[in-house]
Amino acid sequence: MKAIVYSQTGDPSVLQFVDRDMVEPPAGEVRVRIVYSGVNPTDWKSRRGGGPGEATPFAEVVPNQDGAGVIDAVGPGVEGFAVGDRVWLALAAAELAAGGTAQQYSVLPVSRVYPLPNSASFEIGASLGVPAITAHRALTVAEDGPRRLAPGALDGKTVLVAGGAGAVGHAAIQLARWAGATVITTVSSDAKAALVTAAGAHHVVDYKATDAATEIRRIAPDGVDLIVEVAPAPNAELDIAVIRNRGVIAVYANDGGDTMTLDVRSYFALNVRYQFLLLYTVGQAELDAAAEDINAALVDGALPVGEDAGLPLHHFELERTADAHEAVENAIVGKVLIAVGTE
Ligand SMILES: NC(=O)c1ccc[n+]([C@@H]2O[C@H](COP(=O)([O-])OP(=O)(O)OC[C@H]3O[C@@H](n4cnc5c(N)ncnc54)[C@H](OP(=O)(O)O)[C@@H]3O)[C@@H](O)[C@H]2O)c1
Repeated sequence: MKAIVYSQTGDPSVLQFVDRDMVEPPAGEVRVRIVYSGVNPTDWKSRRGGGPGEATPFAEVVPNQDGAGVIDAVGPGVEGFAVGDRVWLALAAAELAAGGTAQQYSVLPVSRVYPLPNSASFEIGASLGVPAITAHRALTVAEDGPRRLAPGALDGKTVLVAGGAGAVGHAAIQLARWAGATVITTVSSDAKAALVTAAGAHHVVDYKATDAATEIRRIAPDGVDLIVEVAPAPNAELDIAVIRNRGVIAVYANDGGDTMTLDVRSYFALNVRYQFLLLYTVGQAELDAAAEDINAALVDGALPVGEDAGLPLHHFELERTADAHEAVENAIVGKVLIAVGTE
């Protein structure tokens, strides 16, 4: 079978297009014929590692955590999945020698595999894993709840999604809106404003062209309940200016800088919480809960992708995975998908 592998960390040129042996799924695992592989920033960050030439966890690493496809073989003891099932994958490359979705057949434990409803395309399925689960976690860590998402779960809440035109931001807008929140989002351009409006944001604030804090306070005079934050350091002042008493700032990235200085008093005066999150270590129960709610949203048709839905798709062939990584590394707007196999 065809696969993309790397044996040392570095720039996209370390990615090689090779033939690999098929692997039989061991107990508790399934083999998935990949239709689309989804690319996220974490994939190029892992490939780059701490620097060029660093040792990799396996002799050959197959990149990319997200994907969608069809179950092709099941290992002993697997229940709940059968050959022919449509599925989407999460953390498919994390510490798995035969995982990774930049290959024709990926072997992985059932804990990384979720059913893909018939109404959802493989393109949607390959866009879910990292962005949608991250968004779900960020939307379910507020002190006053909810812990799970469903229609009505966020009724009466106002959510601020920082950088809503990003892949995680897009999923956060869609899930928050599906769950009943009023959604405010920030963007840096008119083009991105059009995308987040298509994604379902109620209010859009251009944080480069306006005084974002004043604008958000005008929309939400009592402050926002929850902030889904991609850039905590540059946005620290904005966040404290718009969060309400007992509000939560859910941080999933360090875009724009690692270090921030906080005026401590203003945080305890408002009983504010910072909640950080990392998908790799968030916990299986949290991943499963997210996937279950995401599937309910999928069935409701709440998570479309494509330009009309605010997330332009960019397709690459498997052998051009290096270009796909480079596109994500260069912060292309939208979702990068690698077409691996036929539907
Ligand atoms: N913790 C985790 O488990 C986890 C999970 C998923 C992703 N991540 C990380 O999250 C980050 C984003 O991932 P992604 O896939 O969504 O990337 P993406 O599609 O490239 O989106 C990044 C977004 O961040 C926005 N942004 C950057 N600085 C901003 C600022 N100061 N204010 C408002 N928005 C800002 C950008 O918008 P503008 O250009 O308009 O500013 C862009 O839309 C990456 O660093 C990724 O590694 C972490």
